[in-house]
Amino acid sequence: MERCRKFEMSVLEVFLKIEWRDSLSVGVAEIDHQHKLLFGKFNALLAAWVEGKGTHEVTQLFKFLDTYLINHFAEEEHLMREIGFPEAYHHSLAHQAFARQVAALKSQLRHEGPTTELVTSASMIMTKWLIKHISSMDRAIGLFIKGQNVTH
Ligand SMILES: [Fe+2]
Repeated sequence: MERCRKFEMSVLEVFLKIEWRDSLSVGVAEIDHQHKLLFGKFNALLAAWVEGKGTHEVTQLFKFLDTYLINHFAEEEHLMREIGFPEAYHHSLAHQAFARQVAALKSQLRHEGPTTELVTSASMIMTKWLIKHISSMDRAIGLFIKGQNVTH
């Protein structure tokens, strides 16, 4: 049973681990740096789940990722205001929607512990969101900066 779980989890890790690639660069060094760290933190969380670490450890990592995301969003939103980015409002709404999804996952983790189902849905939500949001909405900030010739 334990061997079966380990196999199931390592397959999940291979599929769900997210790798940074240059095509995800938004062209703003600080944001790129934070995105790379987010990927690293997400993969660390995934590895903790896969290794069957206790609920407490996984919860701590999850909290850390959550706090990091909130700070990252705040910095992005500050940058958008600073450069007068026209899509700032919609972009912030997308951040809020994702923060709500993360809060729901956190509550699920609190009630059910780090189950395989939770790991799978959390990873899918995060992978999809991180890749999709970064490659479209965050990139738009970088393109705006380039177009406006704003230095950052
Ligand atoms: Fe963003």
